[in-house]
Amino acid sequence: MNILVIGSGGREHALVKRIAQSPLAKKIYALPGNPGMREAAAVPGNPMDNADTVKKAIELGIDFAVVAPDDPLANGLVDALEEGGIPCFGPSRQAAQLESSKVFAKELMQKYQIPTARFRAFTQVAPALAYLNDHPLPAVIKADGLAKGKGVIIAESLQEAEDAVKAMLQDKAFGESGSRIIIEEFLQGPEVSVLTLTDGENLVPLPSAMDHKRAGENDTGLNTGGMGVIAPTPFYTEEVAKEAMDAIFLPTLKAMKAEGRVFRGCIFFGLMITDKGPRVLEYNARFGDPETQAVLELVEGDLLAAMLACRKGALKADTLKSTGKHACCVVLASKGYPGQFETGFPITVAEEVAPFVHYAGVKQTDQGLVTSGGRVMSVTCTGDTLKEARDKAYEGVKGVHFTGKYFRRDIGASAL
Ligand SMILES: Nc1ncnc2c1ncn2[C@@H]1O[C@H](COP(=O)(O)OP(=O)(O)O)[C@@H](O)[C@H]1O
Ligand SMILES: [Mg+2]
Repeated sequence: MNILVIGSGGREHALVKRIAQSPLAKKIYALPGNPGMREAAAVPGNPMDNADTVKKAIELGIDFAVVAPDDPLANGLVDALEEGGIPCFGPSRQAAQLESSKVFAKELMQKYQIPTARFRAFTQVAPALAYLNDHPLPAVIKADGLAKGKGVIIAESLQEAEDAVKAMLQDKAFGESGSRIIIEEFLQGPEVSVLTLTDGENLVPLPSAMDHKRAGENDTGLNTGGMGVIAPTPFYTEEVAKEAMDAIFLPTLKAMKAEGRVFRGCIFFGLMITDKGPRVLEYNARFGDPETQAVLELVEGDLLAAMLACRKGALKADTLKSTGKHACCVVLASKGYPGQFETGFPITVAEEVAPFVHYAGVKQTDQGLVTSGGRVMSVTCTGDTLKEARDKAYEGVKGVHFTGKYFRRDIGASAL
């Protein structure tokens, strides 16, 4: 089969690598792809241009497309490709609202009694401020729509909470994404990400993962797209996993079906393991980055076959089996990220490290590879223990060089 993967980050690099191992894959294309994807032919293009992407997919004779990033999903790329006769892995625009509208997701959870933080949704400043008056602190304020991971404010004081409400609803700090907001209860506990594959009725969870969102060590500094991951996380015990499956995962699929929005693709459950059990923080309608780089290393089986089964409605529980190993992924960023940073620095990757590297903000030039983004690449290694995986990953990091290479030295430290 001819496969098209949409996207250009480390996540897509990991997906391409894995899809290439499938005997079902004949030729793989990536739009726009990145220079690390040896197994895929790059197709220049803009994933937000549905008509152009469909046209290119038809010209290339694509048999199956994998739409990975959030914006194209919210923009209905899967619907457009399917209408153009190209089957896809990924949710329709309607189903992708599980991520692209936090108000939709919260109201769904409320309606179908899926455990999550107590909340109220607002479009007007005055009632939101009135609600805050009786709200315990900290209060969590969330923009409804996609906000590149910046749309959530945990307000420690009433003043901060009021400022956040006004910034979103009045000053449109997040544009349309913040024209509706949520004010919700603050939850405590370890955070766990569970990526799952689903055909709308059946669901296969991949090993649990823990991202490190803040730029600085010991979870200080600004929020980023993710600075590193360990998988599985010790907090996601078998008991918690069972509760999550029965009280959260399967009820979510049923709810989406009942709403006429059958979800096929990857649901990423962002969970808080509270002392009352797992609670949904948010849904993502896609694979996570960098979670994907880590968890795909921990399962055996044909990923492409599993994705095809998701599309057909024939996903089997034993498609992807856990190896029982541990993974650690360390992201190498440009100094200054997520604030201002410089790009264009030459990159070298030691030969023995290359198989463990996923490219993200990397550009091919006549002079070789240079940095072109905030998150430049990531190094992912596995081991029989978390410690082994971690030691290997940090050893691997030493084999990658570029000016301003920045990484957190404490990925997974809290879980050891
Ligand atoms: N109700 C909550 N209580 C405590 N922390 C929260 C809550 N909701 C979100 N957070 C924190 O904020 C982060 C971002 O929130 P999330 O809902 O995942 O939105 P997004 O990923 O779209 O920014 C979470 O990873 C979590 O650390
Ligand atoms: Mg999140």
